[in-house]
Amino acid sequence: MLGRKVPAVTFRTRIRDEAVGGSNPFRWQDVSSDDYFAGKRVVLFSLPGAFTPTCSTYQLPDFEKLTADFRAEGIDEIYCISVNDAFVMNAWGKSQSLENVKLIPDGSGEFTRKMGMLVAKDNLGFGMRSWRYAAVINNGLVEQWFEEEGYSDNCDSDPYGVSSPQNILETLKSEKLAA
Ligand code: BEZ
Repeated sequence: MLGRKVPAVTFRTRIRDEAVGGSNPFRWQDVSSDDYFAGKRVVLFSLPGAFTPTCSTYQLPDFEKLTADFRAEGIDEIYCISVNDAFVMNAWGKSQSLENVKLIPDGSGEFTRKMGMLVAKDNLGFGMRSWRYAAVINNGLVEQWFEEEGYSDNCDSDPYGVSSPQNILETLKSEKLAA
C-alpha cells in the first residue's frame, strides 16, 4: 500500500448555496481525488458507517479535537470517508458540529473498492462498506498506512485501535523524533 497513488474518483458532494433559494439551499458539487489530495499532506480515515457508535463517540470526535496536534505534525487536512451518500454524511457532520474534519461521501463505494478496503457487512444489514483504516497521504501518495486487523467480510467484531487518532499522532511524533 505504501507509495501507492490514491484512486482517481469523482465524489458527488452536496454544498450549501444560497443562490438555490428555498428552505434547503443545497446543490450537487463534484469533487475529484485531485481536489482533495493534490499538493497536501493529509490524514484520511475510513470507517464502516456514519452515525455508528464507535465512529460517532470516539473516532470522529477525537480526530476533530486533536486537529491542532495533527497540524503541528505537518498535516494540512483531516478527511473522514465512508460508504455513505452526501445527504447522510452532511447530516452526520451537522450532528457532530464539525469545524475541522472534512467528510467525504463515497456513496457508490468506488474509492473504497479501488483502495482494496471494501467489505461485505450484510450480517448487519449494511451491504458493502469500508474496512476501518487510516492513512497519511502526501500529494496523493500513501505515506503511512494504519489498517485494523482481521480484514474480512461479515466480521463479527469491529476492531478499532491502530486507526485511532491517538495512535497515528504517536506514530507521527515518534518518526519526527527519530528523523
Ligand atoms: C461502530 O460502533 O462504529 C460500528 C457498529 C456497528 C457496525 C459498524 C461500526
